[in-house]
Amino acid sequence: MNPNRVAVFPGSFDPVHFGHIDVIDSTSQLFEKVIWAIGTNQAKAPMFKLEDRVEMLRRANVHSNVVITPFSGLLVPFALSRGAGVIIRSLRMVSMDFEYEFQMTLINRHLSDRVHTVYLPARQEHMHINSTAVRELLRNNEDVSEYLPESVRDYAASILGR
Ligand code: PNS
Repeated sequence: MNPNRVAVFPGSFDPVHFGHIDVIDSTSQLFEKVIWAIGTNQAKAPMFKLEDRVEMLRRANVHSNVVITPFSGLLVPFALSRGAGVIIRSLRMVSMDFEYEFQMTLINRHLSDRVHTVYLPARQEHMHINSTAVRELLRNNEDVSEYLPESVRDYAASILGR
């Protein structure tokens, strides 16, 4: 398959929320094949174990052209090894996101000019969501129904012993 028809959507997804789901919905419409790739950001200790984050993505995914795959190491060699020529990242309307994303894009481009980064926005009503805020709400036993689909909420609750 042409690598430009295969996209990787990477992230920690700790946990996956409606902002990510908007982006995977658009990505699955735009590309023939999508690899929804879960990595670990070395700068952050995750709240949920990798296998639980994988399970939450499985519960959230409704697209037949999306495969869920954990990865470790660098993203660009992973993308190349899977025949993907596109990395999808989501941007919110906060400058913090832009600076972090832009730096990562430039480093990734330096690693290979055969892998292109494309930014996709979440829907406007989900723009403000981030996993850090969701984790804070979960830790404090607050309602997260605005942010997580029911299947993911139930799984997170079972992990947190609620
Ligand atoms: O949820 P995040 O923090 O946006 O996910 C970040 C992740 C895991 C996609 C990112 O940290 C990543 O790509 N890690 C792999 C290492 C890498 O390739 N870094 C970029 C070049 S230094």
